[in-house]
Amino acid sequence: MTSTSGPGGTSGPSGEIVMVDADRAGREYAADLLRRAGFRCRAAASGVAALNLCKSEPAVNVLLLTMPLPDLPMQDLPARLGHLPPNIAVVVLCDPIPAESAIALMRAGVSDLLFCPVQPERLLRSVDEASRRGGHATAGIASTAQPTRQLLQQLLRAQEDERRRIARDLHDGISQSLVSIILALEAIHEAPTLHFARQQASEAHRLTTLALDEVRRLARGLRPSVLDDLGLEAALEQLAMQTRTHRGLRVDLHAPTLRNARLPIEVETVVYRIVQEAVTNVIKHAQASCLSVIVERRDGQLRAVIEDDGRGFDLALLNLSDPNAPLGLIGMRERAESVGGSLTIESGSTGTSIYVHIPLPDDHAAG
Ligand SMILES: Nc1ncnc2c1ncn2[C@@H]1O[C@H](COP(=O)(O)OP(=O)(O)O)[C@@H](O)[C@H]1O
Ligand SMILES: [Mg+2]
Repeated sequence: MTSTSGPGGTSGPSGEIVMVDADRAGREYAADLLRRAGFRCRAAASGVAALNLCKSEPAVNVLLLTMPLPDLPMQDLPARLGHLPPNIAVVVLCDPIPAESAIALMRAGVSDLLFCPVQPERLLRSVDEASRRGGHATAGIASTAQPTRQLLQQLLRAQEDERRRIARDLHDGISQSLVSIILALEAIHEAPTLHFARQQASEAHRLTTLALDEVRRLARGLRPSVLDDLGLEAALEQLAMQTRTHRGLRVDLHAPTLRNARLPIEVETVVYRIVQEAVTNVIKHAQASCLSVIVERRDGQLRAVIEDDGRGFDLALLNLSDPNAPLGLIGMRERAESVGGSLTIESGSTGTSIYVHIPLPDDHAAG
């Protein structure tokens, strides 16, 4: 229990916050952030424990839920919130979800819905506003028209970007393989000899295996489970290993000071996504022979450098403020900025270097 001054030094909210995150590192990070901003905060180990605390402790007036929670499925949330005392405001933090689900949550009284990765200031502002406004029974679409419209715009944009990426992957990868399979099957149908038909059948088999790999790659790319389970270093190692299968490209990964340490989950996700896009760009555009990825903790920051020795490109010719500009580089920069970091790109005829700096909270800063 620390000072009563809230974010920005204003007179602090009088109630208490109960927060829950299934990931212990994420929970400690958020609790620490809230306490340092002057909130009184209790961390619960499970969704049910958090709901019980809200019911038994009259001082609690904000519930901060980081989804998913194993014991509290998203679809059960509207019903469960109905059993909370009416003075409690609910803030939900999650990966982007379909617009209809977001609307259902807002209708059920969620005061604010934040999509990961979330900037610490945005989280603090949301909790502060929820604490001052209070009451999930009074929240919801009718009383929060403005935040809801903004939220939906943000949600639709995020969904649209994701869909565009998936559509492109489906088009460039799987549908090309399927076309080749169709051609092989047609060749079997018209085969003049049994020997030729057998040859085409094994070609169709090979192409189907490739298509299956492509589907798996796409599924993994949507959310690599290794990132949730084992953390950034293991996820980067897996990414490097998959990239090494790309013919003619040497991949060096160096993550000396991570040493399997868990960083805040939003930082891990941001760094992983940036490296993933940068690596994809090297494969797609660079014609490089070497790719080097260095990720390290130094001077209270997480630093990443992704370098290739490919043909480079002229940044000045890319108008990144054009609404039709490709989203990869823009998304990389936005992701870094979403956690208070920065990203710079240098590119020329000897290759491309991308530098990422992300400040770490004190307890994660040591290398
Ligand atoms: N490592 C790289 N080497 C060469 N060119 C690159 C590299 N990364 C990006 N580019 C160039 O920058 C452009 C924009 O990249 P990006 O925003 O990721 O969009 P996309 O990959 O969808 O084309 C690419 O089309 C390519 O011309
Ligand atoms: Mg790209």
